[in-house]
Amino acid sequence: STLLLLNGPNLGILGRREPEVYGKATLADVERSVAQEVKERGWDVVSVQRESEGELIHAIQDNYDSVGAIVNPGALMIAGWSLRDALANYPRPWIEVHLSNVWAREQFRHESVIAPLAGGVIVGMGALGYQLAARALLSLTQE
Ligand code: DQA
Repeated sequence: STLLLLNGPNLGILGRREPEVYGKATLADVERSVAQEVKERGWDVVSVQRESEGELIHAIQDNYDSVGAIVNPGALMIAGWSLRDALANYPRPWIEVHLSNVWAREQFRHESVIAPLAGGVIVGMGALGYQLAARALLSLTQE
């Protein structure tokens, strides 16, 4: 089984991107920690980071058979309506993650168009948020 780890625009340069806001962990660090978290269940992680919305949508459509997803949409949280529609058709539970506490920041980050569809939302916990999301998916998919 695979878990889909989906990261939107500007998240490939994690660690070198405004580290005072987003922390020092790289995307590779995040991928490792999520993989570590879910290996007890025998899940593999498929990690996709893209700068464009269309490619993220393809990744969702290509992974309907995954067990669940962790999604950091980046700034697509603000107006990513096509991403939202793609996630509406994703058949498994998924968790939205934001490294920073978006509510402590600019007004335009205070609403996410994908959040109403998410199984849960984790914000402001830095890279740990991805691990917590992985744990949440382990619980949500327990029969
Ligand atoms: C982010 C928050 C977004 O507002 C921002 O556009 C990002 C990163 C976060 O992880 O904190 O790209 O999703």
